[in-house]
Amino acid sequence: MYKTHTCGELRASHVGETVTLAGWVHNFRNHGGVTFIDLRDRFGITQVVGNPEVNQELLPLKEARSEWVLQVTGEVRPRMEGAENPNLDTGKIEIAVTAVKILNKAKMLPILINKDEEVDENLRLKFRYLDLRRNSMRRNLELRHNTIKFIRDYLDEESFLDIETPILFKTTPEGARDYLVPSRVHPGQFYALPQSPQQLKQMLMVAGVERYFQVARCFRDEDQRGDRQPEFTQLDLEMSFVERNDVMSLAESMFTELVAKVVPEKEVFQTPWPRITYAESMERFGKDNPDIRFGLELVNVGDLVAECGFGVFEGTIKAGGEVRGINAKGLGDYSRKKIDALTDYVKANGGAKGLAYIALTSDGQMRSSFAKFLSDEIKDALIERMEAESGDLLLFVADQAETTFESLGRLRVHLGNLLELRDPNVLGFCWVVDFPFVFWNEDEKRWDPSHHLFTSPMTEDIPILESETGKVRGQQYDLVLNNYEVGGGSIRIHQGDLQEKVFKLIGLDPAVAKERFGHMLEAFTYGAPPHGGIAIGLDRFVMLLANAPNIREVIAFPKNQNARDVMGDAPSPAEEKQLVELHIDLRK
Ligand code: AMO
Ligand code: AMP
Repeated sequence: MYKTHTCGELRASHVGETVTLAGWVHNFRNHGGVTFIDLRDRFGITQVVGNPEVNQELLPLKEARSEWVLQVTGEVRPRMEGAENPNLDTGKIEIAVTAVKILNKAKMLPILINKDEEVDENLRLKFRYLDLRRNSMRRNLELRHNTIKFIRDYLDEESFLDIETPILFKTTPEGARDYLVPSRVHPGQFYALPQSPQQLKQMLMVAGVERYFQVARCFRDEDQRGDRQPEFTQLDLEMSFVERNDVMSLAESMFTELVAKVVPEKEVFQTPWPRITYAESMERFGKDNPDIRFGLELVNVGDLVAECGFGVFEGTIKAGGEVRGINAKGLGDYSRKKIDALTDYVKANGGAKGLAYIALTSDGQMRSSFAKFLSDEIKDALIERMEAESGDLLLFVADQAETTFESLGRLRVHLGNLLELRDPNVLGFCWVVDFPFVFWNEDEKRWDPSHHLFTSPMTEDIPILESETGKVRGQQYDLVLNNYEVGGGSIRIHQGDLQEKVFKLIGLDPAVAKERFGHMLEAFTYGAPPHGGIAIGLDRFVMLLANAPNIREVIAFPKNQNARDVMGDAPSPAEEKQLVELHIDLRK
């Protein structure tokens, strides 16, 4: 070994010992002939000191520059009084160097390791191996490791088997485009990378595994966002002979314990985690991934303003739309300019056509963009419904339901940020349940599954599957944390005839269904147990535990926002020879 101790290990109790350390030059400085170097490895930083003027053999200490790799031997001694560094675990001691060896030199670095500077993200990604040397990134890698380790240990205790499933398989639709891999052996045929192990884990249930899990890589070709990557990682699990409650309870117990053990500094907002129906979530928060940690909930005022005299509201209600509002508590003295900025926000984020307001100033005045049209009676009713008082700002959107929810749902989160109501150290877990089984797709004129094709409808709703399709609820649950969907799962269909019925309902041609999912339908004919499961987006979950702004911060080698790996420069053109072998002609 190149070292006897790590750079994070030595304490006052080691004084007098001769040790050897190896690591990178984090900082260096020279004072009157004496060289001080902060030597860093993954475990910490230790100050090493030598005087090359007194001992020629220590000259390499003086030559060394940032990020050179050194090996030093010396005696642990207490730092001089006043020179102790309380910010370092090793801050009470230093190494009086007696021998030093340069293991490697480093060029001038394109990004600084020892300071958290704003650096262009593409530069960070290009030199990711340097970026990962930074303290904050190392901490994120450790947090991710600790999270996954906890999960593996926990599920092992609960009799789950960790089973790998193939990456080269056929389409497993989860609502995104597939990544295809051309086959050399079978001209013109393609594997699809799994969007999730969904089909395979269900096959494992038919196989009698009963409790499966996997830290699984999933591939989805979809538009990139801060919380989406083309390849990402799920904690995927599946259980046999369970109902919705059993899966949810298991996940809830596991993550509650995980938080206490892995991020004890964090606080869970509410236990047991609230269970909110989809309808209630939309009604109160305007979205199905609500941040439950603060108020500012949506209020339906449609009935109050249906004939209020304000054309925008009346017209919207007549056209079958909705009028809803938010009481932005404490913003009653907001300037016209700031309210205009909120209006621009909802126009750009959610597509509202405007934002009508009533500002109740703290000195008892009222300013409003539309109150002049209203009778005192309706004004008072609005104020009462919105539980408003002096100092509050009431904001309204009138539109079709979807736009109203989208606009106000996003405005609510925006206000939560402005008012600093979203404490990242509080974890607001909740379950969203009772989703509609299918959503009407107006463009394609068909029903789309709200989760995936294999989710079971609520047993009591099966009789109305065809007659009142829109009212059927699915046996699905989403796990939401601080405004992010971190997980989703369901009880599955385990009978072939019901599965075929659902394929038909969503307009999947029977021949196509057979071609794509024939293996599942067949498997269901050999005694498939009732089963269900869940998948947690590990990147999103760790991002929230790390207070990171996007999932790229908790992935060692992510793609950039353009789905490109800028370090390895992928994707890149294939060689002609490879294309020929793969039987591929590129289209112009
Ligand atoms: P779902 O599609 O909801 O369910 O995915 C589960 C969770 O995975 C995360 N996730 C993503 N994370 C990063 N980048 C992406 N592109 C991305 N897409 C999804 C989300 C999401 O909640 N097979 C089902 C699970 C099941 O039914 O058991 C599935 O994949 O956090
Ligand atoms: P206007 O009639 O366009 O002058 O708008 C009067 C007020 O109503 C302004 O505050 C607009 O922002 C607001 N407004 C316009 N359209 C809508 C809408 N669809 N929903 C809510 N407020 C709106």
